[in-house]
Amino acid sequence: MKTSVYYFSGTGNSLNVAKHIAKGIENAKVVSIASLQNQKVVEDDSERLVIVTPTYYIKLPNIVRKFINKINLEKVDYIAVIATCGGGAGYVLNEAEELLNRKGKNLDAGFELDMVENSIVLKLSEDVIRERLNQEQGHVNEIIKVISNKEMRQVSSKSKTRHQMKSKVLEFVLKKLAGLDRKKCKKDICVHCGICEKVCPRSIVTIKDGYPVWNGECEDCMACIHWCPKQAISFGMIRVNKENVYHHPNVTMKEIIDQKQ
Ligand SMILES: Cc1cc2nc3c(=O)[nH]c(=O)nc-3n(C[C@H](O)[C@H](O)[C@H](O)COP(=O)(O)O)c2cc1C
Ligand code: SF4
Ligand code: SF4
Repeated sequence: MKTSVYYFSGTGNSLNVAKHIAKGIENAKVVSIASLQNQKVVEDDSERLVIVTPTYYIKLPNIVRKFINKINLEKVDYIAVIATCGGGAGYVLNEAEELLNRKGKNLDAGFELDMVENSIVLKLSEDVIRERLNQEQGHVNEIIKVISNKEMRQVSSKSKTRHQMKSKVLEFVLKKLAGLDRKKCKKDICVHCGICEKVCPRSIVTIKDGYPVWNGECEDCMACIHWCPKQAISFGMIRVNKENVYHHPNVTMKEIIDQKQ
C-alpha cells in the first residue's frame, strides 16, 4: 500500500515527525505542502494519507487548509492528521475533519503531539524543551503503529464557536499586541546573508539594499526569525535572542529551504 506523508514546517518539528513516520511505514514518501502551493489541484495515487501540520492560533495554518481543499482524495481510503503544537492544538483536528467531511472523507485518526513551542512569545523552559525532545521518538512510534494498522483514533468533539473566538483572540494578541505583524530587521547586526529570504516558504521576504523586506501573505511560520544566524529579525516589542530562537535539532536549514521545491 502506498502512503504519502505531507508536511508543512517553519522550524522543523512537523518535518521531523513526517520523516520519522515515513521511515516507519513501508512504501511511504514525504511530500512538502509548500512545494504544491501554486498548484490548483493536487493529484496523488496513494491509498493512505498522513498530514503533519503545526498549530497556529489553535487552528490549521492557511497553507495546510488550502492544501486539504485542493487535494484529490478519490483513491485514498485512510487519512491521519498529526497536529504538532506547543501544548494545545485546540480545534486543528476538528477543522481538518470538517474539511475532509466536506469532501466526503473521514478523518480516520487524529493526533495532538506536544513539541517545542516556537512562537517565542510563549517560551518553554529548558527542562520542558529537553523533555519534549526526549519523548518525541516514543510518541511518534506509537502513532506509527496506529497508522500502519489503519486503526481508528476518533477526534473528541469540541465547540466550534468557542474555539473560533479563542483563535481570533490569540491571533490578535500575537499579531497585533505582541507585534508579529511588525517584523523588522536590526540593520546594525544583519550580515546580509539572505537566509531569511531563502527559508521563507511563502517567498514573501526579499533582500533589498542588503536587508530583508516583507511583502505578501505571511504564514506566521517564524522561519525567517528562527533561522536568521544573527537574530537580526525582531517583532513588535519582543526581543529575539540566542536563548529564545529554536529549530528542531534533526532538521537542517537546507531542508527548510528545499520545502518550496
Ligand atoms: C504563530 C504561531 C501560533 C501558534 N499557536 C499555537 C497554538 O495555538 N497552540 C499550540 O499549542 N502551539 C502553537 N504554536 C506552536 C507551534 O504549533 C509548534 O511549535 C509547532 O510544532 C511548530 O511546528 P514547526 O516546527 O514544524 O514549524 C504556535 C506557533 C506559532 C509560530
Ligand atoms: S537572515 Fe538575518 S542576517 Fe541574514 S539577511 Fe536576513 S536578517 Fe540579515
Ligand atoms: S515572512 Fe517569515 S513568518 Fe512569514 S511566512 Fe515567511 S518565513 Fe514565515
